[in-house]
Amino acid sequence: MKSQDIRKQFLDFFKDRGHLIVPSAPIVTKDDPTLMFNNSGMAQFKEFFLGNGTPKSKRIADTQKCLRVSGKHNDLEEVGIDTYHHTMFEMLGNWSFGDYFKKEAIHWAWELLTEVYKIDKDILYVTIFEGNKEDNLPMDQEAYDIWKELISEDRILMGNKKDNFWEMGDQGPCGPCSEIHVDIRSAEEKAQKAGRELVNADHPQVVEIWNNVFMEFNRKADGSLEKLPAQHVDTGMGFERLCMVLQGVQSNYDTDVFTPLINKIENLTGKKYTIKAANDKDEKLNIAIRVIADHVRAVAFAIADGQLPSNNGAGYVIRRILRRAIRYAFTFLDKKEPFIFELVDTLSSQMGEFFPEIKSQKILVQNVIREEETSFLRTLDQGLQLLENVIASTEGKVVSGQKAFELYDTFGFPIDLTALILREKGYSLDEAGFEAAMQEQKSRSRAASEVSTADWTILTEGNTETFVGYDQLVNEVKVTRYRKVDSKKDGTIYQIVLNNTPFYPEGGGQVGDKGKLVSANETIEVIDTKKENNLILHITKKLPENINSTFTAQVNEKLRNDSASNHSATHLLHQALRSVLGTHVEQKGSLVSPNYLRFDFSHFSKVTDEELKQVEDFVNARIQEHLPLIERRSIPFQQAIDEGAMALFGEKYGDNVRAIKFGESMELCGGIHVKNTADIWYFKIVSESAVAAGIRRIEAITNEAVKEYFASQENALSEIKAALKNPQDTLKAVASLQDENAKLKKQLEALLKDKAKNLKGELAAEIQEINGVKFLAKQVDLDAAGAKDLIYELGNLGNNLFILLATVQDDKPMLSCYISKELVAEKGLNAGQVVRELGKHIQGGGGGQPFFATAGGKNVNGINDALAAAVDFIK
Ligand code: ALA
Repeated sequence: MKSQDIRKQFLDFFKDRGHLIVPSAPIVTKDDPTLMFNNSGMAQFKEFFLGNGTPKSKRIADTQKCLRVSGKHNDLEEVGIDTYHHTMFEMLGNWSFGDYFKKEAIHWAWELLTEVYKIDKDILYVTIFEGNKEDNLPMDQEAYDIWKELISEDRILMGNKKDNFWEMGDQGPCGPCSEIHVDIRSAEEKAQKAGRELVNADHPQVVEIWNNVFMEFNRKADGSLEKLPAQHVDTGMGFERLCMVLQGVQSNYDTDVFTPLINKIENLTGKKYTIKAANDKDEKLNIAIRVIADHVRAVAFAIADGQLPSNNGAGYVIRRILRRAIRYAFTFLDKKEPFIFELVDTLSSQMGEFFPEIKSQKILVQNVIREEETSFLRTLDQGLQLLENVIASTEGKVVSGQKAFELYDTFGFPIDLTALILREKGYSLDEAGFEAAMQEQKSRSRAASEVSTADWTILTEGNTETFVGYDQLVNEVKVTRYRKVDSKKDGTIYQIVLNNTPFYPEGGGQVGDKGKLVSANETIEVIDTKKENNLILHITKKLPENINSTFTAQVNEKLRNDSASNHSATHLLHQALRSVLGTHVEQKGSLVSPNYLRFDFSHFSKVTDEELKQVEDFVNARIQEHLPLIERRSIPFQQAIDEGAMALFGEKYGDNVRAIKFGESMELCGGIHVKNTADIWYFKIVSESAVAAGIRRIEAITNEAVKEYFASQENALSEIKAALKNPQDTLKAVASLQDENAKLKKQLEALLKDKAKNLKGELAAEIQEINGVKFLAKQVDLDAAGAKDLIYELGNLGNNLFILLATVQDDKPMLSCYISKELVAEKGLNAGQVVRELGKHIQGGGGGQPFFATAGGKNVNGINDALAAAVDFIK
């Protein structure tokens, strides 16, 4: 059975049993600070379990793209080493929100597996929760009794809290679960050891395929459990593992989910994947190939869902996954050029039908991956050089853990690669030292990011909050719940939820509103507004003394209007870019703040000045046309798309959407806009730059900010004019200054050359012989580049030369050292080591090659000591 059909049968089965089939949520989560990526099918439904929202249907099923690479569920280090964990995987799931419970869930799971997929009952085992004293929970007798009807009792196993009580994170909805495991070992292996002994024991052919969670509790901040208002079912089946079972193979990587990728990797690298590795070397190849086949999926889907690799947060996790793949290819497949990007084509033909995002963004994904590969391979190259230096400066055979950590931390040079290279060269690594440095950094960053979130204090049950901010900026409100959040970063803040609110929560690129909550006797500043799990959080520094008062919520109107102006301008900019550059332009990121707007979009080359001018003119023409805002607050999604509205990948849309129209521009958008484009006043682009391969960024301003911008430009121009003594023609005056400058530069260069020539003669005469070495150490009045030229000139004078020149530029001393190649080869001298040692006298450091190296320092007064030390050294 093909994987496509396996997926379809699952969805059809639950559709026939009254489930609504929904698309996978994007892999990168929004509005949930506790989660970077969707790590399970239920993550997108969390709010329904908590009672903060109502699902479209009480029964839902889907396949969810999941990523388990950070936080509570993190499998990254296992991936590739074994054959059944992945970074990205599909989780097939069915849900009941306060509808059916254990009986139906278990019966359907059994029916689907044994009657539809026709899995042999004799290879299945199930587990149920054995209970837990600490949480005061009994064994799940109900599940046991249901299973007893379906499967012999010796195949029902008890599981502990770790395996059979499912929690999404440290806080939140949770409950006992019942897992289904398969045993796909050969008959001989089964005869030797019973499958029940291998359940949950990390055996590659005795694995869990499906987890049925019975959500009954909410884990609170203090670790205690409280009963949820209703009981739910949350299930998750590993799609790739199911394919393994149904396709009769022994590893997820031997299913048609992975074989096309593996074949392509074999083609591109000339290495062979073996189903059963014969020796250690083959197994290393296998692991590397699995790592790459797995990781390219995670990275490609994350990029397609809008998460570019970057230096922090979710982007950094993606970058690290890709780097792990590049490193395995570099070390074990001997692949030193970019090639992983070429797998995207295969992936897109394999999965593009069910996940169109990967097809439509193929080129972008390829470009981004290729650029990441190129730059990390460069890093690896530099890292190898640096490692050479580290080795050269190591006394003995053990390389310092601190040094290896610097390579890892500053240059991203992988530690296992360091260890491998050292081993090959007969060195070893001080692993304890490395660990210590690593731990120290970890605890520093942990302390910096620690957040403790208290439980909600609920004043009014239910989620009655409505957003009234499209129509009004002031409103009478009551607090319905609040909680305290402590963090190193923001100190203590409070999150307050209101019964209804005019405050716009950060979203769709637009920053959250600021403003005040005013009651008869106090005023509380709202410093930000955010959305989390369907709640609008008003962030304050203190709590109202009388929390039960009625407040007047007042949004800061000036900031709100400035944001609105920038938001509407963003839509016009998007339209302008598609009109001027072409319809390949897609939004890839957006920030709308009161001060400026930032817009990232796909486009493959720099936007020229001419094009930028056209874009600016296009937007300003729409402003001039005084186009009124046409807001459709709630229309069916498909109708909006049919009418030409732009929707974005990586966004989650409901059945009904809000559409914003100015003339021909129409976008799905929940943000705040001007009533008429005339309110934007004027649009000015202030910068255009690259964000990543194939992604450009424009920053622009509107309204007041443009007025300020023009005023400051005018000011700058008058100052320039004044400095030039108010010439008639400013441009001409600047040009003649530039001419004159160029002439002077030429003259100066000629003079310096003469000077160097004279110096060369003088210095050549000063070279003396010490211990068979022709030696010179001297301070010269040149810049560093001049000293380098001179040193090479002097170097041509003969063999066995040791030359050290000291220079001072901008009050900073510098040493440049040259050593002839015979001295390097025969006497083992090394200019890099010499400057590092002598550099101590000028409080500096540096390095370079064995025959030429430089060190910059801070202490000019140390030059004489450095020169004297050079004499001692040669003596
Ligand atoms: N949420 C459950 C899991 O991820 C089904 O295992």
